[in-house]
Amino acid sequence: MRDENALEQAKKLVAAAKKISALTGAGISVDSGIPDFRSEGGIWERFDPYEYGTYDSFLNDPSKFWTMGRELAKVMLKAKPNPAHIALAELEQTGKLLGVITQNIDNLHQAAGNTNVVELHGSYLRAHCMECKTDYVGEEVHQRVADGEIPPRCEKCGGVLKSEAVLFGEPMPEGPMARAVDICNDTDLMLVIGTSLSVYPAAFLPQLAKNSGAKVILINLEGANRDDVADVILMGKASDVVPRLFGSSE
Ligand code: APR
Repeated sequence: MRDENALEQAKKLVAAAKKISALTGAGISVDSGIPDFRSEGGIWERFDPYEYGTYDSFLNDPSKFWTMGRELAKVMLKAKPNPAHIALAELEQTGKLLGVITQNIDNLHQAAGNTNVVELHGSYLRAHCMECKTDYVGEEVHQRVADGEIPPRCEKCGGVLKSEAVLFGEPMPEGPMARAVDICNDTDLMLVIGTSLSVYPAAFLPQLAKNSGAKVILINLEGANRDDVADVILMGKASDVVPRLFGSSE
């Protein structure tokens, strides 16, 4: 925490708010051991997103995605919610949280206890067959991948299985985006936590909330040049900063 005044300002906004929302990105899960995408040493530094993370590349060679998926699943399956996730789950208990809109696929908000979680980019815990559309439980698929079945195939028809993690260029699920827009139109304070706001349409959401009259608090490890949308910018680790917004913890 670098600016105690900013924290005091943010705590006042939280205390005054009645319908808080959160928009989270990979940064909130870094302290749970899951690397983010664009920081140094992040996922896209190790896996070229054009080769491993686009829908076209998946259709062309699904084993690329599943090779990356095998590494990420190993980390996600043992990751636990950190104090930032837990603080948002505790906030839901107070009745002041409209919902958590997340770009993450790691299920850590649900694991922390949040029930109103909008997964804009899907989840690593769900997969389906590209041919017959049979649904599969992600953990079972990841075990098969860890055992070397790359790409994993449908037990019914032999089709290639696809994780429900949304890839670049893949149509986003409509339901979650509609719920996210509803939340943005209703919230009076949006906490934007651990995201570089570099991927649309998720990156539009803070401005949408602001257009509806909400205040916006941006929490990020690095400074963000988003004072166009943020009323308060708190720089620091989400697992340190987020709990200090709510509790008496100074
Ligand atoms: N606490 C707070 N912020 C952090 C922390 C931390 N401990 N560690 C990193 N950050 C910040 C980084 O500085 C960066 O600004 O979190 C942000 C993470 O940004 P990205 O890596 O771009 O992740 P994200 O914004 O979630 O990416 C959005 O892009 O690759 C696609 O679909 C993928 O959902 C992802 C989307």
